[in-house]
Amino acid sequence: MDIKVTLTDNPKQKFTDEGTLGFGRIFTDHMFTMEYEEGKGWFNPQITPYHNFTLDPATVVFHYGQEIFEGLKAYKDENGAVRLFRADKNFARLNSSCDRLCMARINEEDALMALEKLLEIEKDWIPTSLGTSLYIRPFMFGTDVRLGVSASTKYTFAIILSPSGPYYNNGLIPVSIYVEDEYVRAAPGGTGSAKAGGNYAASILAGQKAKEKGYSQVLWLDATRQYVEEVGAMNIFFVIDGKLVTPKLNGSILPGITRDSVITLAKDLGIPVEEKQIAISEIEEAHSKGILNECFGTGTAAVISPVGELFYKGKKMIINDNKMGDKAQLLYNKLTDIQYKGLGDKFGWSKTLNI
Ligand code: PLP
Ligand code: COI
Repeated sequence: MDIKVTLTDNPKQKFTDEGTLGFGRIFTDHMFTMEYEEGKGWFNPQITPYHNFTLDPATVVFHYGQEIFEGLKAYKDENGAVRLFRADKNFARLNSSCDRLCMARINEEDALMALEKLLEIEKDWIPTSLGTSLYIRPFMFGTDVRLGVSASTKYTFAIILSPSGPYYNNGLIPVSIYVEDEYVRAAPGGTGSAKAGGNYAASILAGQKAKEKGYSQVLWLDATRQYVEEVGAMNIFFVIDGKLVTPKLNGSILPGITRDSVITLAKDLGIPVEEKQIAISEIEEAHSKGILNECFGTGTAAVISPVGELFYKGKKMIINDNKMGDKAQLLYNKLTDIQYKGLGDKFGWSKTLNI
């Protein structure tokens, strides 16, 4: 793929304090875009100054939500080495999302190459302190101009970059989560396992109501309201009587790359792990017996976020005295050592870029 590069002649002022970055609020100087047309394939790959899109009001994405995205991070260590963590998995998942939303698949190697080229240009935007990184947001949307409901024949694929701090303002301080027993995020046969913008639109109301009650996010149950699925922007893990348990992939939860990494790391550390259907009643029971040792969420943005309280049907379950548990801390250390420094990476997950 031959990428045309046009550099900005008006670079933005870079951040000066990594401690105040927040999540996804500022964007770098450049972006990658390419276009797709049925019969022609992907064309016009470009890196350009960060810019607005100009779209006709009848563009299909505005009406029928044909949009998918990914989230991954680039890390820089103190020696200036830039690393990506399992980026191939993100582009593979983007293609699975494409399949579910009837969108045009990308060439995963080309997308990775485009990202590396963009990172080469933007490497000075990567923050270095622990907990900060360059958040990468690849996304795609349908650009046909018409109001009929069917798959678009044209798409735009883009990558933007955002220097970011922790997803939750409090970093590793445990979050409180509301177990949602009214609204449902996804159901069998739906789009829950795709990273589609529409899934997030459908989740906002419950998230907003939970926030009004003082909770950071919701823990979704399945369509029967019996089994635990995942949190708004992360997969969920419990430590019950020393065993790490997480809902098995059932087609309606997102197959998280951090989830997969945590399962692999835990097994490697000799921690027993089980992926299974978990009833919320089982969590209540474990809590009342005093064997719900820990709970935490995993995600690219959230990394490993301890959960200190689950609120379900009027009852508060305080977990591990509202403190980060030993297993969550151990897994956080192992994961971030690999992500930031490539340290202890037996799995070949961390790729140092030659930039
Ligand atoms: N579940 C949802 C709904 C998410 O938005 C995310 C974030 O990407 C995850 C889980 C975690 O996935 P990953 O670890 O691949 O970032
Ligand atoms: C990520 O962790 O990359 C996500 O996409 C979560 C996002 C919804 C903020």
